Amino acid sequence: MTTLTPILTKNWDQPDSYTLAGYEREGGYRALRTALGMEPDAIVQTVKDSGLRGRGGAGFPTGMKWGFLPPSSPNPRYLVVNADESEPGTCKDIPLMMANPHVLVEGVIISAYAIKSNHAFIYVRGEVLHVIRRLQRAVEEAYEAGYLGRDVLGSGYDLELVVHTGAGAYICGEETALLDSLEGYRGQPRLKPPFPAVAGLYGGPTVINNVESISSVPSIVANGADWFASMGTEKSQGFGIFSLSGHVTRPGQYEAPLGITLRELLDMAGGVRAGHRLKFWTPGGSSTPIFTDEHLDVPLDFESVGAAGSMLGTRALQIFDETVCVVRAVLRWSEFYAHESCGKCTPCREGTYWYKQMLKRLEAGQGSEEDLETLLDLSDNILGRSFCALGDGATSPVVSSIKLFRDEYLRHFELGGCPFDPAKSTLWAGA
Ligand SMILES: Cc1cc2nc3c(=O)[nH]c(=O)nc-3n(C[C@H](O)[C@H](O)[C@H](O)COP(=O)(O)O)c2cc1C
Ligand code: SF4
Repeated sequence: MTTLTPILTKNWDQPDSYTLAGYEREGGYRALRTALGMEPDAIVQTVKDSGLRGRGGAGFPTGMKWGFLPPSSPNPRYLVVNADESEPGTCKDIPLMMANPHVLVEGVIISAYAIKSNHAFIYVRGEVLHVIRRLQRAVEEAYEAGYLGRDVLGSGYDLELVVHTGAGAYICGEETALLDSLEGYRGQPRLKPPFPAVAGLYGGPTVINNVESISSVPSIVANGADWFASMGTEKSQGFGIFSLSGHVTRPGQYEAPLGITLRELLDMAGGVRAGHRLKFWTPGGSSTPIFTDEHLDVPLDFESVGAAGSMLGTRALQIFDETVCVVRAVLRWSEFYAHESCGKCTPCREGTYWYKQMLKRLEAGQGSEEDLETLLDLSDNILGRSFCALGDGATSPVVSSIKLFRDEYLRHFELGGCPFDPAKSTLWAGA
């Protein structure tokens, strides 16, 4: 399997891809007309049958999530799109919204109609002003064209869509922290249950989905569940955007069926930058355990990546060549987690602080093998004991790097410094 499947990325190279005219020229909003002619429950069933699984990291089946909404409730139902995208390495939703905001808007309208919601929100991180402007303009255009507002395309269905900007906190991508932030509170995760499907935004039944999940819905409605399910693997169906970054010849977004391998993607991306070789990589962002060149042929689907000891996550493939010190990379990620920990629970708040302190020392070559055991012990006290998945994610780079690159940590201690520091040595031959 070496072919790309440009669907969400199909018209990114068109100069007006982000405008209503550009989107409609490529068949945009036709799926909405089809959807409005269907019963809402039939759309939910189509999404279930397609096998679409959440593209925000966890891979939960989207149609099943929609089916969890209680059939009746005194409160309004809400659809919330998670466009916070703040994980290091993850960079698919922002370019998608930049190049093709209307596919998300169309996906929101169809999805909100399917779950019988009249209020939808796109929660987007506040730093990406250029994307916010594009989204807001796309929403305005959709209102002007009668795709949003009262009586959408004369169907009798009403939908209000609000683009809400966050203030730039990674934790606000966690779905319940996002809801708190959207309600105007400090973004911290909520205790579950109740799950958002039962009591979410303003206490109402709420569906929260990732940008790419919702953007995949128009193509599923237009082409059918079987079309979508024919791509990918048996349990990880469809296509996804794979983001290649770092030491790769042609970094960028590669939209391909799930189950493609890094080897195949690298072939298309011109390989690791000239004169260098792959040392380690993340399959799905900084919170997924790292892989090495031994994992080049692991199919990038939820099951295979899990069986190989990591997670598919957000398909954020960060490529590091042999010039990179793995201890330094792990230190940088740990600094991020310590900074972004919301402080609500002790294992993550204290654990990420101590990760940062210890790794700074270890990277400077001031440590011993015993410290690695302390780091692993600390990780045991964070993983599975944190209130939300941010804490769990923080352990991934630490534990996986010690497992795969113990020798490189030890070399720092032998040398009394970083082997990648030109003052200490030229590149360490064992790297
Ligand atoms: C710390 C943290 C940050 C997250 N950030 C995002 C994010 O930026 N975008 C996103 O879609 N999901 C993010 N998630 C996952 C969401 O909690 C949730 O699973 C997702 O939005 C569900 O959408 P999906 O089912 O379509 O994947 C994050 C989770 C955690 C723990
Ligand atoms: S795991 Fe970290 S981010 Fe999550 S609630 Fe606890 S302190 Fe906050």
